[in-house]
Amino acid sequence: MKSLTLEACAKINLSLDVAGTRPDGYHLLTTVMQSVSLSDRVYLELDRQGNGLILLANDPAIPLDERNTAHKAARHFMAAAGIDAGVRIFLEKAIPMEAGLAGGSADAAAVLFGLNELCGKPLTMAQLLELAVKTGADVPFCLTGGTVLCTGIGEILTPLEAFARVPLILVKPDFGISTPWAFQRFDEYPAAVRPNHSKLFSAMQRRDLQAMQDATANVLESVSLKAHPILDSLKQQLLDLGAGMAQMSGSGPTVFGLFRETAHRDRAYAALEQRLPDGYRIFSATTLGHGLRIL
Ligand code: C5P
Repeated sequence: MKSLTLEACAKINLSLDVAGTRPDGYHLLTTVMQSVSLSDRVYLELDRQGNGLILLANDPAIPLDERNTAHKAARHFMAAAGIDAGVRIFLEKAIPMEAGLAGGSADAAAVLFGLNELCGKPLTMAQLLELAVKTGADVPFCLTGGTVLCTGIGEILTPLEAFARVPLILVKPDFGISTPWAFQRFDEYPAAVRPNHSKLFSAMQRRDLQAMQDATANVLESVSLKAHPILDSLKQQLLDLGAGMAQMSGSGPTVFGLFRETAHRDRAYAALEQRLPDGYRIFSATTLGHGLRIL
């Protein structure tokens, strides 16, 4: 029996634009994804004598069958690598579900990477990336991590200069948003404000959060903020508490605020903790240069 534990990090979208739609309904994106330090732990066990896949999690709300991207990832890996062994996966969740933080995709990326390590690396990174996009649109980014411009449906990855060590706060309201729902509604509510990526890249290089706020946008806010006006108020509260930039992540509902200093972030965290309604979750984090780590 061989085993491995990985840390699987959440992501935020520093920008998100929709450039079109594919015939299969998937949307073509231009989005800057950034790994952050909020993470799940993924425990993997490989039993060469055994067979079958067992998925367990510490959160009863999580499906443990093929609806779970970690389950899908393991199936894809075993088929592609031609390995017939017993696999046990335990997910210790900290990243909330349906939050716009790619929690499921991060776990799936950890399963692909981790099983490949446990099996003696039968697949190349390019092959793992192919399995990643078959598993979910955010999984290729989660396999790579760091600061990346993602295009296509999210699978064409262009690494950017690292935007690591920036303190941030994530606020997850007491409701979830389904990604398919948000993308379907986007087609009905075209976005008024779109990101200017060349301005955003130059602001990121200067680490000028105010200029990033002016240059960027998440077009899915046109859907999610309309359905949940509280999200706009959360963004405003983060800015009022000193965030240089605040935005919704992915299809939401999580809203993040980036801060210039750790002390500013910690003060804002303490203030929000006092005033947020019951059921809202708040996380203190930093941006990272990686998305996955073997522990
Ligand atoms: O690939 P993933 O399972 O993460 O995507 C969930 C859903 O989000 C898709 O079924 C699709 O409805 C929507 N989506 C999209 N365009 C993308 C990514 C996701 O329309 N680029």
